[in-house]
Amino acid sequence: MSGIVGYAGSKDALPVVIGSLKRLEYRGYDSAGIAYQNGKGIEIFRTRGKIADLQDALPSPLPEARVGLGHTRWATHGIPSERNSHPHRSAGVAVVHNGIIANYRKLKSELMSEGITFSSDTDTEVIPHMISRNLGLGLPLKKAISETVSRLRGTFALVILSETHPHTLFALRRDRPLVLGIGTDEYFIASDVCAILPHAREFVFLEDGQICTLTVNGFEIEHLETQGPAPVKRQSVTVDWAPAAAEREGYDHFMLKEIHDQPRTVADTFDEWIKNPQSLLDESGLSPNMTLGLRRLQMVACGSSYHAALIGRFLIERFARVSVDVDIASEYRYRDPIVDNGTLLLSISQSGETADTLAAQRAAKKRKIKTLTLSNVVGSTSSLEADAVLYTRAGPEIGVASTKTFTAQLTVLTLFALALGIRRGTLSLKEANTVKSRLMEIPEAIRAALQKDAEIRELAATLLQSRGFLCLGRGINYPIALEGALKLKEISYVHAEAYPAGEMKHGPIALVENGLPIIVLAPRDDLFEKMALSMEEAKARGGRVVGITDTVEALPGSVHDAIAMPSTHHLLWPFVSVIPLQLLAYHIAVLRGCPVDQPRHLAKSITDE
Ligand code: AGP
Repeated sequence: MSGIVGYAGSKDALPVVIGSLKRLEYRGYDSAGIAYQNGKGIEIFRTRGKIADLQDALPSPLPEARVGLGHTRWATHGIPSERNSHPHRSAGVAVVHNGIIANYRKLKSELMSEGITFSSDTDTEVIPHMISRNLGLGLPLKKAISETVSRLRGTFALVILSETHPHTLFALRRDRPLVLGIGTDEYFIASDVCAILPHAREFVFLEDGQICTLTVNGFEIEHLETQGPAPVKRQSVTVDWAPAAAEREGYDHFMLKEIHDQPRTVADTFDEWIKNPQSLLDESGLSPNMTLGLRRLQMVACGSSYHAALIGRFLIERFARVSVDVDIASEYRYRDPIVDNGTLLLSISQSGETADTLAAQRAAKKRKIKTLTLSNVVGSTSSLEADAVLYTRAGPEIGVASTKTFTAQLTVLTLFALALGIRRGTLSLKEANTVKSRLMEIPEAIRAALQKDAEIRELAATLLQSRGFLCLGRGINYPIALEGALKLKEISYVHAEAYPAGEMKHGPIALVENGLPIIVLAPRDDLFEKMALSMEEAKARGGRVVGITDTVEALPGSVHDAIAMPSTHHLLWPFVSVIPLQLLAYHIAVLRGCPVDQPRHLAKSITDE
């Protein structure tokens, strides 16, 4: 997510704007920029890189200004570069944006058909062009803004400068935070309180549908549509001074915040494509014959991304009827896979920097295989080296453990499988629409799953002394058993093994001893009866069976603990069933005093082999 700051007041604006941007650095960003009005018009300075690089690009001494705005960018559309940095401008309008404009492609082609030229690859740039176009039609500025906003689909926090109003900032939002800070003869706007905490003690948290006008003499908050006065709820806020604490938004750890972010990040990831999943194929850079002529998909990944790939296999084989292999990336190179011109390699890496995955992707390129990558970082190495790219929209994941990026990967893989199936004619539009509508329900289903947090925290306390765990699943739920075991290992330092439930009788059942926790993923699907049998077998040998299901009453009496999860399409249940496993590992880690966000021996991105 990007960071926004704005200033209007009696002091010099730019030093305040730059200082406030620095307090947003922990959010993760790849470029920065500022804009101000110099009496003759809007001046903009932008740079790829850090705020220190931006300061090097600025004139010294800093130009005088009473109104200014700044931005730190986390790239979602358009690689990190000066031209893609904010602010973006069109004629006498400059805009900074946090969020995702889901329908920017349609708006951009409409604007280009009117002869408007674009200077960036971002979604944001449509906004200043639309405002300028409306001004050119004679609309007053606020009307030009509200007309523009009415055409946007997606999320935004915006701060706007216009040469028509030299000493004024305009701020508005939809589903992305903006807070007004009230100082003495000075007013601030920012993405979060922490950026402006040193300057203000009273804050107004803007609401969707409002527009806030800031000038050196004061502020006004109106309803964007009617431009009638809106209620102003001033709040004095005491916020932890540590920026990271503010960024955690009250959660004890980034991992817990990111677990709870998942309803939004799944929605952010599908919002852009859900209406027309095939546009995801077109935008990825995959050629039509690569999709129609696809005969074999080879997926490579590590860790949680590997587990996402295993789930992707079920979806792609079911919907697109393409044969899929999935390899641990570090093992892929030791195979001599059968490939031909109908083979596509799909690498999955949230960081896009994992050395093993990059090496596998490069090995495929050496074999003259086309490569597609799925990454969470625009401009990452894997995205620059692959022939085609798909992006998750989870925003920066600060906890080492993959949580929101994992479910965001499942989101893209679901859309990719649907799009391939529709294009190849292996999936009826009716079934595709059924799955799409169930996918749109997933954010709510995850919210319901998160409601079990207290129950899972209690279970964690009960199982705290366990010397090990077994996690069992079948079919599409086996990769979730693997993911749950990995979370226990990597953040709670607890030994955990995952097995396909049917494999237990071939050896692993000898591990079962009195009180050993055995977590069993058992949704009421075609495999439920077999899973119930597995639970009985485990219980009969002294295991403590924890059943995770969407039908608690169907669980056998032998189950010691039952965690009820929402029901959904059986191929989408992994979105839901992974939540209790993320939370269980988190709470055990906290109770064991583990450094949840930075587990020992681990890094967020493993950039050496
Ligand atoms: C998962 O919680 C770990 N962070 C780790 O297994 C991770 O999934 C793996 O290193 C792959 O990372 P990537 O997705 O950035 O390639």
